[in-house]
Amino acid sequence: MCQLILEVFIALDIFSSLKEGFFSFVDLARINKLPENRYYHLNWMVEFLFHNNYLDFQFVSGLRKYQLKRNIQASGSLYYRNLIVRTSSQMIPSCDLMEHVAKNYPDFLQGKLNGFEILFIKDKMKLWKQYFSNEHLGYSVYNSFGAEAFIVWMPKGNFRVLEVGGGTGNACLSILQLLKKNLSFDLLDKYIFSDISPLFMRMGKDLIENNLGSLENFATKKIDFNVPFDVQGIENDSCDVVYGVNSLHVAENITKVLGNIIRALKPGGKIIISESVRQTRQHLLIQEFIFNLLDEYTGIRNTQNDSFAKGFLAYTDWLDIFKVVGLRNIRYALNVENSLAKPTYPILAAVFKGEKNG
Ligand SMILES: C[S@@+](CC[C@H](N)C(=O)[O-])C[C@H]1O[C@@H](n2cnc3c(N)ncnc32)[C@H](O)[C@@H]1O
Repeated sequence: MCQLILEVFIALDIFSSLKEGFFSFVDLARINKLPENRYYHLNWMVEFLFHNNYLDFQFVSGLRKYQLKRNIQASGSLYYRNLIVRTSSQMIPSCDLMEHVAKNYPDFLQGKLNGFEILFIKDKMKLWKQYFSNEHLGYSVYNSFGAEAFIVWMPKGNFRVLEVGGGTGNACLSILQLLKKNLSFDLLDKYIFSDISPLFMRMGKDLIENNLGSLENFATKKIDFNVPFDVQGIENDSCDVVYGVNSLHVAENITKVLGNIIRALKPGGKIIISESVRQTRQHLLIQEFIFNLLDEYTGIRNTQNDSFAKGFLAYTDWLDIFKVVGLRNIRYALNVENSLAKPTYPILAAVFKGEKNG
């Protein structure tokens, strides 16, 4: 991944500056005349290289300045691809998407392209379809871990589920398959699969139908979770579980969105989510290289003056937010055993559960 950042820096002439001397990210941005709304992204890349031991660091007149370590070579994106593919051919979707993003970052940083154009226009849905697929080792952990948690935390009797930000449907498929395997599928009165994007909703519906046939208790609904659900056809106090995988982190205002979800839950109903999390706020995640491109992804958060509190939250932030909105019986699990005892180990996924009073 650091090699992809170096490719971006070579295209912008940042690489040669970093080889020659110590620069702050603001120096680098100014030398390259980058617009100010791209400073966050450049800062993220510089910090990512630093955290991964590619840069030396000095404080100069109170500013953090960096220089490329002497032994670091730019080996090119092919090196990155070979390294990933050697780990597993099921990582290729990560590679394809990261390379696509890296190729477009120089234009993005110069303000010539926006994230939406890079990620969603024209034939990009193929990249997303394979990225969110349960066949893709670099993503499916969120769906499988979420589904396992769902089975542990789901209500004991019959239940009705609303999934928010269901996307390509792979998270939903993992749940429905596990319910069938556990012989608890008959307890499912209704699974309402929702997303803000009609295109994603159609992809999700097709995935479920292609894998499980047409199900009587499965329905789709267009829902924007930033807006109260009762005006979108989901009555208050009507759901036993609201579920989401990697969707709530793009909430415009997470406390408001959780309020919308809580109103849709029956008394005692549960919110269950699976999320990419940072181990600490300072911990930077590889996939942020992609998602930093999106305004809504870098624009939220209820913390102040902490640029690295943007983007994916630390798992402790989620716990705090669940408490603040009044959820009870909060539980969580991280997918890495003893992760707290190993602070350098990257946590990939966390699942959280909270219950509405009642
Ligand atoms: C990372 S994807 C989730 C992937 C999904 N869990 C899957 O299995 O494919 C995030 C999803 O959230 C949806 N989304 C973004 N903003 C939303 C909003 N305001 N309301 C509802 N869904 C939203 C996006 O359209 C996208 O499908």
